[in-house]
Amino acid sequence: MRVLVAGSSGTVGMAVTRALLQRGVHVVALSRYSPEHMQSKLSEQRYANTTLSAVAHADMPGRLHCIQHDISQTSLTNRDIGTVDALVSCLSSRSGAPDDARRVDFEANVRLLDYAASLSQIGRFLLVSAICVQKPKLAFQHEKLRFEALLRAGDIPYTIVRPTAYFKSLSGQVERLRAGKPFLMFGDGELTACKPIADEDLAQYIADGLTSADTLGRVLPIGGPGPALTPKQQGRLLAATLNVPFKSRSINPDWFIKGAGLLDRLAPLSKTMHRRAEFLRIAHYYATESMLCWDDEQGSYQTDATPEFGERTLAQHYAQLAANAESSGLDSSHKLFS
Ligand SMILES: NC(=O)c1ccc[n+]([C@@H]2O[C@H](COP(=O)([O-])OP(=O)(O)OC[C@H]3O[C@@H](n4cnc5c(N)ncnc54)[C@H](OP(=O)(O)O)[C@@H]3O)[C@@H](O)[C@H]2O)c1
Repeated sequence: MRVLVAGSSGTVGMAVTRALLQRGVHVVALSRYSPEHMQSKLSEQRYANTTLSAVAHADMPGRLHCIQHDISQTSLTNRDIGTVDALVSCLSSRSGAPDDARRVDFEANVRLLDYAASLSQIGRFLLVSAICVQKPKLAFQHEKLRFEALLRAGDIPYTIVRPTAYFKSLSGQVERLRAGKPFLMFGDGELTACKPIADEDLAQYIADGLTSADTLGRVLPIGGPGPALTPKQQGRLLAATLNVPFKSRSINPDWFIKGAGLLDRLAPLSKTMHRRAEFLRIAHYYATESMLCWDDEQGSYQTDATPEFGERTLAQHYAQLAANAESSGLDSSHKLFS
């Protein structure tokens, strides 16, 4: 089996690439990086527990094929990569700014879909989306939904996976707490909750779903093993793991929405202000909306209705970070606080 992984340099893309390699799949890893850079990213120490065998696979001719290609700029043809049996898109705007979201979450995915449509046959287009699109308020959520709609309306067999929060998104305050600073949280720290999922567990879920008949034509919200955790519980867990007293400081999420309102007035004059207003709206969204399944009828998030997968817990992840003096597992790309 030959599978194209787009966004293979990202958190989930990298984990999916490793999971597929470990299953003996031939992975075509598409990214903006050179093949040498991708190889070295794959073999980084922080992936040692899962990657040693993946790297061995990667060294086997024909197992891992890294292709440097900016799908947000240029179309893909089967002259570039030949044919594949399935495609996984882990693409995501890194900033969430409206123009970037359009370019990546919508347009780049459309190029992938065009490529898939050009093949005589493709078994699956698996899109990694996000659970938050169920209550869309932000530009990037609308762009993701626009592409989801296109994928669902077409002829290509698809699966859409909508994960909850990743561990990296809940790991931004390790250094703060280590330095004796208070844990920052919105309101009383109980405004939201999520069932965090490990990259490796999500990658296994995706690798399973890629060939399963059960996932065909479905939209699948997915979280990690419960229970759901509020930010306050996450802070307490982190403090206990780092062996420091739990101190917290509350931030009023309304500040973000008021700030966004002010910047919106300047947005017609400045693209920068338009982007900054959106960043404040993103912060407000994550401060006030849970990453759990939303029930329209009840008008609330439903912990029990949020499916769970995997075994790795946030507590284990924090313990790993605490044990690692340099916090080398941290990825700051989506963290709100540091
Ligand atoms: N973070 C969370 O907690 C969370 C929770 C639920 C769902 N999700 C969703 O899960 C999916 C994967 O997320 P992730 O955290 O793995 O993403 P990520 O680490 O930010 O990686 C994004 C990928 O998209 C690529 N990309 C970004 N901008 C690009 C551009 N302009 N042109 C070409 N490629 C570009 C990146 O390439 P470069 O490396 O070259 O930048 C990278 O490979 C996304 O749909 C995300 O919304 C995330």
